Amino acid sequence: MAILGLEGIRKSFGGNRVLDGVDMEVGRGSICQLIGSNGSGKTTLINCVSGLYVPDSGRVVFDGTDVTRLGLRGTFRAGLVRTWQIPRPFAVLTALENMLVAGGPNRGESFLRAPLRGWVPDEEALVGRALSLASDVGLEGKGGERGSELSGGQKKLLELGRAMMSGARMVLMDEPIAGVNPTLAHEIFERIERIRREHGITFLIVEHRLDISFQYVDRVFAMDGGRIIAEGTPDEVSSHPGVIESYLGGAP
Ligand SMILES: Nc1ncnc2c1ncn2[C@@H]1O[C@H](COP(=O)(O)OP(=O)(O)O)[C@@H](O)[C@H]1O
Ligand SMILES: [Mg+2]
Repeated sequence: MAILGLEGIRKSFGGNRVLDGVDMEVGRGSICQLIGSNGSGKTTLINCVSGLYVPDSGRVVFDGTDVTRLGLRGTFRAGLVRTWQIPRPFAVLTALENMLVAGGPNRGESFLRAPLRGWVPDEEALVGRALSLASDVGLEGKGGERGSELSGGQKKLLELGRAMMSGARMVLMDEPIAGVNPTLAHEIFERIERIRREHGITFLIVEHRLDISFQYVDRVFAMDGGRIIAEGTPDEVSSHPGVIESYLGGAP
């Protein structure tokens, strides 16, 4: 059963039609990847799904609710979370504090005052949850490090932990392993896979490094010229003639 359904999404800027009728269904608990050459419309599509843009026509349905016009805040509240929708990681806060700040409106702020007056039970539960999620995303032992001390890859893991703290049921990520070394890139996808398995969270990920991502994703959607031109398993999509021509560059 689909957790996210896109129906006939169209979006133009000036006279430039960037999305030209995108239909898509993302299965609940799946890890889906969106590929396509530069300018094919991937980021614009993610912008329409996360509520940053309202499409000119078409619908975005998340878990049975029409979220097309809810805006960034509304989709976030519904549990459809783009990692940067969460307040940005604070360089001066520790990884654990950054997780806590993502834990809900005002709760993080109230937690930051806790050293002055002790923790209330609600905050203790929040800290327990943050510690457990920090370990799920591979940041065990890193909770005390400041945001600014984390490597690029560890910041990505922190983003994932923060998305989960915010109550995400589906996470949208734009190039989570860009610029990350191969070992850590594999670890990020391994963590995504495990979080999907243990928490049932659905992922839609834009990513160019297919050599790594294709080992982990269930389903791939290929875009060209503002449309989905192929959909299937990584094997199916990478042998699709239109994908080879428009994206993979000539003969396989
Ligand atoms: N806010 C915007 N205003 C005008 N043109 C835009 C805007 N956002 C994207 N575009 C145009 O839409 C096209 C697709 O861009 P984008 O969705 O970023 O592609 P991708 O992420 O696949 O590289 C590009 O031609 C880009 O210039
Ligand atoms: Mg893009």
